[in-house]
Amino acid sequence: MSTSTRGAVAPADRAAPLDAVALRRDFPILTQEVRGKPLIYLDNAATSQKPRVVIDALREYYETTNANIHRGIHYLSEKGTAAYEDARVRVARFINAAQPHEVIFTRGTTDGINMLARAWGDENIAADDEILLTEVEHHSNLVPWQALAKRRGARLRFIPTDDAGVIDLDTYGGMLGPQTKLVAVHHVSNVLGVIAPVAEMARLAHEHGAVIAVDGAQSAPHMPVDVQALDVDFLTFSGHKMAGPTGIGILYGKEALLDAMEPAHFGGSMIRMVELESSTWADLPDKFEGGTPNIAGAIGLGVAVDYLEHVGMDAINAHARQLGSYAVNVLSDMPGVSVHGPEADGERGGVVSFTVHDLHPHDVGTVLDGEGIAIRAGHHCAQPLMRKLGVHATARASVYLYNTTDEIDRLVEGVDKAQRFFGTI
Ligand code: ALA
Repeated sequence: MSTSTRGAVAPADRAAPLDAVALRRDFPILTQEVRGKPLIYLDNAATSQKPRVVIDALREYYETTNANIHRGIHYLSEKGTAAYEDARVRVARFINAAQPHEVIFTRGTTDGINMLARAWGDENIAADDEILLTEVEHHSNLVPWQALAKRRGARLRFIPTDDAGVIDLDTYGGMLGPQTKLVAVHHVSNVLGVIAPVAEMARLAHEHGAVIAVDGAQSAPHMPVDVQALDVDFLTFSGHKMAGPTGIGILYGKEALLDAMEPAHFGGSMIRMVELESSTWADLPDKFEGGTPNIAGAIGLGVAVDYLEHVGMDAINAHARQLGSYAVNVLSDMPGVSVHGPEADGERGGVVSFTVHDLHPHDVGTVLDGEGIAIRAGHHCAQPLMRKLGVHATARASVYLYNTTDEIDRLVEGVDKAQRFFGTI
């Protein structure tokens, strides 16, 4: 798998600035019409589309390689094992992990955070310990910590942010103390697009002996993420938001922390020795990958990572920021439209949430859908943040490497149409 799929990725000459119009041709789904209009896909924070090389890799795996891994003494099993482990190496390179075995395959960000809350949390959080979060977190980076705090009698504390989601580092620093055991924070907000200062937060957390776990679901797809430069202890992210398949994700952890942790899932493949009454565990990473993993998904993610690297993460990041800022500017200029999150020139990526007069975002989304434009409308799995913003829901447009300014202009026309339809202008 590794050699045949690697040769098929986008050519390296697609360096910055990124050519979104050329890249679109790599994504078969984008050629279709939806409701009689060319599809404009602006729901990338929910899931991204997949390039042909990833789709081909999945088909090729099932057509040529499919077998269970790590246990067969036969050709296909060895081939599958090599491709699966090669994907781990590629992901480790992508986030600059010190060792491939610091990369654990999960089902996605939610699964990774839940694993962490069980495997690290149950061992390391005790009564009256504090876990610091922000008011901005996705439910996936909140509810598992609520459950852990309840199990262990620990306390959740919330680092305040302004309405744009910007964290005040002085306030955060003042909240850290000997009682702080964990800081669990988003890297990029899935609602506001705001980028959290995780390197500085990690430095301050470590000064107080706390561990920092970063939800990278909205950062890893869009910007270079170097776990050693950021010095984060844990990072979770999802394959499907970064051109990879669904059902595969990553829990990165520093070797010493992972080594000291108990497994989260028990069963086949994760053991060293099993007696009737007790067992011992395999080394990293197998200790955390009990059962048959998502082999095809991991291989597909490895190909997606290669694809993104060939396009260039710096170029992808610049593109997301440029389109995000453009969308903030043009939407803010519309009468009755409020954009939530940082200003166009603030620390933000390509996620743009907005509300239109007192129209329900679902109504806005439905009119846009009629124009072939896919956005997300709702609470975005961030109900506490919606309450903080004083809204029930927002409309959200989120971009990826294949989106263009022309598509943002079409979004603006669609919002204008919604306003006219509902008589608000
Ligand atoms: N977490 C994804 C989103 O924000 C599903 O849309």
